[in-house]
Amino acid sequence: MKTIGVLTSGGDAPGMNAAIRAVVRTACENGMKVLGINRGYQGLIDDDIRELNIRSVSDIIHRGGTMLYSARCTAFKEEAGMQKAIETCKKHGIEGIVVIGGDGSFRGARDLSLRGIPCIGVPGTIDNDIVSTDYTIGYDTCLNTVMQMVDRIRDTVESHSRCMVVEVMGNKCGDLTLNAGIAVGATAIVIPEIRSDIEQHVINRIRRTQKTDKKHFIVMVAEGIGGVEELAKKIEKECGVESRAVVLGHVQRGGSPTVRDRVMASQMGYKAVQLLMNGIGNRVTVLKDDHITDYDIYEALNMKKAVNDELYKIAHEISI
Ligand code: F6P
Repeated sequence: MKTIGVLTSGGDAPGMNAAIRAVVRTACENGMKVLGINRGYQGLIDDDIRELNIRSVSDIIHRGGTMLYSARCTAFKEEAGMQKAIETCKKHGIEGIVVIGGDGSFRGARDLSLRGIPCIGVPGTIDNDIVSTDYTIGYDTCLNTVMQMVDRIRDTVESHSRCMVVEVMGNKCGDLTLNAGIAVGATAIVIPEIRSDIEQHVINRIRRTQKTDKKHFIVMVAEGIGGVEELAKKIEKECGVESRAVVLGHVQRGGSPTVRDRVMASQMGYKAVQLLMNGIGNRVTVLKDDHITDYDIYEALNMKKAVNDELYKIAHEISI
């Protein structure tokens, strides 16, 4: 391949810039031309494209967000949008594309590959919800952001002997909530993968810890569960502890990427270009058993993610 494109799609994640940098530098070092596609698949439809060189990606490795901007593009799911995107690829001589994003973005990459434009998916999302990989770029930074914010929340709940119910992002996946919940020593953690009578589960845990003279509580709830305001009211009524709710929101998506995200993004971006250079498309780069490898997109999208029951059990056993 002589010319490749790179785009970021779906929710932005810290480390996407580091991945773009790795893609651009690896391709340029190997004599390829790289075109940056703005605003994900929307940029392909609108022909919003610029050439990138090794200097265009200077000073971005430490930045959150994405220099290529991102979008959730519904028009690309329609055949008309797809055809426009293909025309843009033909016009610019784009022979392959690195797509940095989540499962939704990979479905687009699969559809483009099917129509003769080989794509490589690189997992980039704070949610860690891509079934085929043990790790998604942005996850570690987000976990640390959540931990730091809840550490601050702990200062105030302790001072007022209150309970705070904290809603954490993650779409339908509880990984962020569970891991951050352990890191902040939450009294109760509620995630979509482990269904129970939520209110009873949380209230029983608070009552139990109240018997050991605990006066302040942090309850972590995944956004896939929601209802934090109602839960806080219920806790106040049933457990007699003044309670508040907070939705951490989009602050979780920003910030300078951690070492783990920068290194992972660099490895995966490099791997994606290696694949395209060898004429291989329709793959996703993944972390499996501590190695960067790649899977077929169709297979990757059909895998099932296992719930970490053991971690959930540990979290509740040691947070009494
Ligand atoms: O996928 C990342 C994510 O932040 C999810 O955790 C959340 O459900 C969603 O994106 C929010 O999307 P938007 O920024 O479009 O509101």
